[in-house]
Amino acid sequence: PPPPPPAPLNDTSAKLVNDPAHPWQPLRAGDIRGVCPGLNTLASHGYLPRNGIVTPNQIIEAAQDGFNMDNTLARFLAYGTFLVDGNVVTNEMSIGSKSAATGPDPPAPAIVGGLDTHAVFEGDASMTRQDFFFGNNHDFNETLFDQFVEFSNRFGAGKYNLTVAGELRHQRIQQSIATNPNFTFVAPRYFTAFAESAFPVDFFIDGRDSNGQLEMDVARSFFQNSRFPDGFFRPNHSVTGEGSDVVFAAHPIEPGRNVGGVNNYVLDPTSADFTTPCLLYTNFVNETIVGLYPSPTGDLRTALNFYLNLFFEAFDNSEGSGCTQLFPYGQD
Ligand code: HEM
Ligand code: MG
Repeated sequence: PPPPPPAPLNDTSAKLVNDPAHPWQPLRAGDIRGVCPGLNTLASHGYLPRNGIVTPNQIIEAAQDGFNMDNTLARFLAYGTFLVDGNVVTNEMSIGSKSAATGPDPPAPAIVGGLDTHAVFEGDASMTRQDFFFGNNHDFNETLFDQFVEFSNRFGAGKYNLTVAGELRHQRIQQSIATNPNFTFVAPRYFTAFAESAFPVDFFIDGRDSNGQLEMDVARSFFQNSRFPDGFFRPNHSVTGEGSDVVFAAHPIEPGRNVGGVNNYVLDPTSADFTTPCLLYTNFVNETIVGLYPSPTGDLRTALNFYLNLFFEAFDNSEGSGCTQLFPYGQD
């Protein structure tokens, strides 16, 4: 069976993470990067395999070691994305586009498309990546980063902070409503969008600073170049994604999508929102996972049950303590 989840760090103090053992290196032919500036950076410094093909436990260990991400949050993200984007039988996932390096695919409708796969975890209204509708949902986009800088100037006196995060999150949603006829903003993307808006404040500021103000050259280094600044220290505590509530409260919006064209955002009451965390879990399992894996058998079923169990444990620890565990493929 695959290995059990990595333990939390014993030492969660700030420390030099751009260290001699983890030098930044440019991409070699075939190396994969994708939608997540955090994982891209960990790969380009060798905390993750530099080719961008990773196991879920490598993600958890790297996010803890390199960015001091909380063990429960790292498990939730790693196992959640791995179930929809990874190969549960070979235990490998691409942090970007689909790759033959993750091994033989399970039968369709399974995708195993890597983290860039649209609409299972990756979603619309990202800060520095375009909506899938416009053709490229994964590469750094200079026009969007210019807007990131403009909002940091306008609302943060030149720095990205939680005030800027709230305004830019709202702006990106309004832009998608106005320009993307396929704009979709439902769980799980609905949840991760607000969290990821806080992540630059949580993770990209040097752990010896406690001012909550991210410099633009540092932001560009992570978002565009997958690179820790010289001498960078990770945060000085185990980071749980704090601040997403502040981002949400600045401009609350319910889950929904454009219907029949732009500028017609229709609410979707069947999506989970912040008042219904168990529904996030239930829909993810019963619709997303079962949609990809309607009737798995043999090793595939065993692997899915193994990872569904780890995902529930992580979920139960954080968002939804008290949710009922589901067993769509029966219990072993
Ligand atoms: C975006 C996965 C950890 C920072 C994303 C996206 C995915 C993802 C799938 C794309 C969502 C979208 O914008 O459409 C993961 C997984 C992690 C992880 C599986 C496992 C631990 C981290 C860490 C950081 C981070 C540790 C910061 C150090 C971000 C940011 C975005 C993002 C800022 C938003 C990018 C944007 O809006 O332009 N991540 N991530 N992530 N991630 Fe991660
Ligand atoms: Mg996106």
